[in-house]
Amino acid sequence: MISLTALNTLRLPAYAESLVAVRQSSGLLAISESLGDRPRVILGGGSNLVLQGIADHPLDAVVLHNQLRGIVRLPEQDGLTRIRCAGGESWHAFVMWTLAQGLAGLENLALIPGTVGAAPIQNIGAYGVELADRIEAVHAWDFASRDHVMFARDDCRFGYRHSLFKEPEVQGPWNAPRFLVTAVDFSLWPAARSPVVTGYAGLSERLGQMGIQGRPQPLQIAHAVISLRREKLPDPEDLANAGSFFKNPVVPEGLASALKAQHPGLPVYSQADGMKLSAGWLIEAAGLKGVRKGGAGVYDRHALVLVNHGTASGHDLLGLARDIQQAVMSRFGVWLETEPQILPPLHAG
Ligand code: EPU
Repeated sequence: MISLTALNTLRLPAYAESLVAVRQSSGLLAISESLGDRPRVILGGGSNLVLQGIADHPLDAVVLHNQLRGIVRLPEQDGLTRIRCAGGESWHAFVMWTLAQGLAGLENLALIPGTVGAAPIQNIGAYGVELADRIEAVHAWDFASRDHVMFARDDCRFGYRHSLFKEPEVQGPWNAPRFLVTAVDFSLWPAARSPVVTGYAGLSERLGQMGIQGRPQPLQIAHAVISLRREKLPDPEDLANAGSFFKNPVVPEGLASALKAQHPGLPVYSQADGMKLSAGWLIEAAGLKGVRKGGAGVYDRHALVLVNHGTASGHDLLGLARDIQQAVMSRFGVWLETEPQILPPLHAG
C-alpha cells in the first residue's frame, strides 16, 4: 500500500493500492494497456485535492502521478513567443523560467502551487489574470481512444475555476478520468510590450510600496504578487492547505444588492453571469475566521483557506467545510461551493 500523505499539500492521511509515475508521454499507451479497466485517478502537485481515503479503506484506484517534464520553444507567431510546457512541471517554476527568458504574460500567476498540467483543469487565476487568457492549446492523453489529442483554447470551455476537464460528461467518473494533460501551449509577449494588469485590489499599491514608478516590469509584478500571496496565504510547507477551499459565489444581482444594502462592507464584483461575492468576507463575517475543529481549521489571516494543523483527516476537514457552508447559508442565504477536487467525491459514498 502507498501513502499519499506527502503527495497532497493538505497532508491528509490517505492510501492507495499502487502508484504509477508517468514520466514520458510515449509511455502512456503501455500504461493504458496495462491498466485496462482498472479504476484510476490522476495526481499532479496534489495542491487542490482533498483525499478521504484512510488506511482501512485505501483509494480504490491506481494513482497515475504526472511527472512529465520538459519545456520547448515553438515557432513564433504574430510576434508572440510560443512555449510548450509538459504537464508535470511545477507551475511557479515555469512562470519564473518564462520571466527569466524575458517573456511576459504569466507574472500575475506567480507562486500558485501545483503543476502546469493541473492549471487548465480549474483554469487557475489570480490578480486579474486567468490561465485561459494566456494559453493557446492543451495537449492530453485520451484513455478512451488511447491516443494523443489537442484542445484549442476556445474548445476548453473555460470559465471561473472551470474547464471541460471538470465536466463529468466529458471527463467521466472520478475513477476513470478520460484525459490526462500531457502539455500546455502558451503565447507570451516580449517583456517590453506585454499587457500590464495591475488593477486588482492591492497590486498597484504593493508596487508603489516597492518604490516602482511608471510601467512596471513583468518581473516586478511577479515579485509584488509573490509578496501579497506570502502575506495572505499560508505556505503549504509551513501549514498544510489547498489554497482557497471555496469558490467565490456568483449570485443574481437582486440578492447581491440586498446583501450589499445590509452589509456595505461586502466586496461585490460584476461578472457576465451575475455578481461575484467575496467568500472570504462572508466566512469572516459569520465569525469563523481562525476557528478550529480538531486538527482542521480556518486560516486566521484568510478565511477562504482551510488548514490542517497536523492531525486532520479528509473527513474532519470536510466536516468543518460543511459547518462553514451551513453558517454562511443561514446568515446570508448563500451556499458556498467547495473548490478543490474531493477524492472519492462525497456522493461516491
Ligand atoms: N476578505 C475578507 N476576509 C478574509 C479574506 C478575504 O474580508 O478573511 C476580503 C478581502 O478584504 C478582499 C476580498 O475578500 O476584499 C478578496 O480577497 P482576496 O484578494 O484575498 O481574494 P479572494 O477572492 O479571497 C481569489 C482567488 C485566489 C487568488 C485571489 C487573488 C478564488 C476562489 N480565490 O481569492 O485564488 O489568489 O483571488 O486573485 O477565486 C486559489 O484559488 O486557491 C486562490 C488562492
